[in-house]
Amino acid sequence: MTEKSPKLRAALDGIPTYKPGKPAAADGPLAFKLSSNENPYPPLAGVLETAANAAASFNRYPDLACTALIAELASRFDVPLEHLATGTGSVGVAQQLVQSTAGPGDEVIYAWRSFEAYPIITQIAGATSVRVPLNDAEEHDLEAMADAITDRTRLIFVCNPNNPTSTVVRRAQLERFLERVPSDVLVVLDEAYIEFIRDDQVPNGIDLYRDRPNVCVLRTFSKAYGLAGLRVGFAIAHEPVAAALRKTAVPFGVSQLAQDAAVASLRSEDALRERVDALVTERGRVWEALTAQGWTVPDSQANFVWLRLGERTADFAKVCEAAGVVIRPFPGEGCGSPSASARRTRSSCGRRRSTARSSECLF
Ligand SMILES: Cc1ncc(COP(=O)(O)O)c(C=O)c1O
Repeated sequence: MTEKSPKLRAALDGIPTYKPGKPAAADGPLAFKLSSNENPYPPLAGVLETAANAAASFNRYPDLACTALIAELASRFDVPLEHLATGTGSVGVAQQLVQSTAGPGDEVIYAWRSFEAYPIITQIAGATSVRVPLNDAEEHDLEAMADAITDRTRLIFVCNPNNPTSTVVRRAQLERFLERVPSDVLVVLDEAYIEFIRDDQVPNGIDLYRDRPNVCVLRTFSKAYGLAGLRVGFAIAHEPVAAALRKTAVPFGVSQLAQDAAVASLRSEDALRERVDALVTERGRVWEALTAQGWTVPDSQANFVWLRLGERTADFAKVCEAAGVVIRPFPGEGCGSPSASARRTRSSCGRRRSTARSSECLF
């Protein structure tokens, strides 16, 4: 009898494996890992203590419904409990959104280059990616994205600010775009880095979602909140989208540690705001230093900067690595590098570049 391997779905053929940011070499020189846009600060004391307490009962399953976290988020954003859904990081929620809306024959539109997970989760669902190139300013070309909509389009990602180019979509543009999107196409505003925005022309997606049933806001605790390792993200969406997210969630996917730490983080906003402000200050310093050297760097509204180095990208990554700085290169294109991780202890000498929007609230 000949051995056959298990039959796998053809849709998986050729899926690029998600490449996490490269880890810093354990035995190398002092290294700064800038490749995953993480928060460089250690957990806040109160949050750590809360998570440690939750760890004492990890023989039990977590609260399936994330009751306390959902209640905290609902009151904070003034949205109905039923409009919230959590998942294993916002990438987990993004995957659930695609699974809920698109399958073979359907199309998912996103800007390119943008967050690396979009093509992967689209292909896993068996749907087709429609990539719309960024414009020359490294920004979403929303007109072209609206032109790309067909009767097969099921979901559109708008990554604001965009990973890895750090650019934003402003209110007027986004509203014009939303007017062009048919009401049966879901628009996902991926706001993983919203806390770092200081441009007051950039809308808060929650304002746009309220009277638009086809708009969903995606948020994470991984970046500003510094809980990347705990894997918790959430979406705010009208029924039935939020209900579909609850159906497609991996049961018990969000650990009790993550749920409790997220609630504690939401209640520690002052301390978190100080950290985000320091990172934004450092971003301004890095941007100014690079610009002064003659580099073209898009105005960053995230916690990283984008250098379009083209063919020199791979060489630049090698030089960085030799110097103990681990960045995220996209060979032939450029690299995104968090602007603050390596130098955070020196943030007090930074100059703030864009202060148009003060940080009276993290969102
Ligand atoms: C734009 C964007 N969305 C979502 C995510 C996913 O973050 P997480 O799954 O940790 O919430 C990332 C992570 O890098 C990101 O850059």
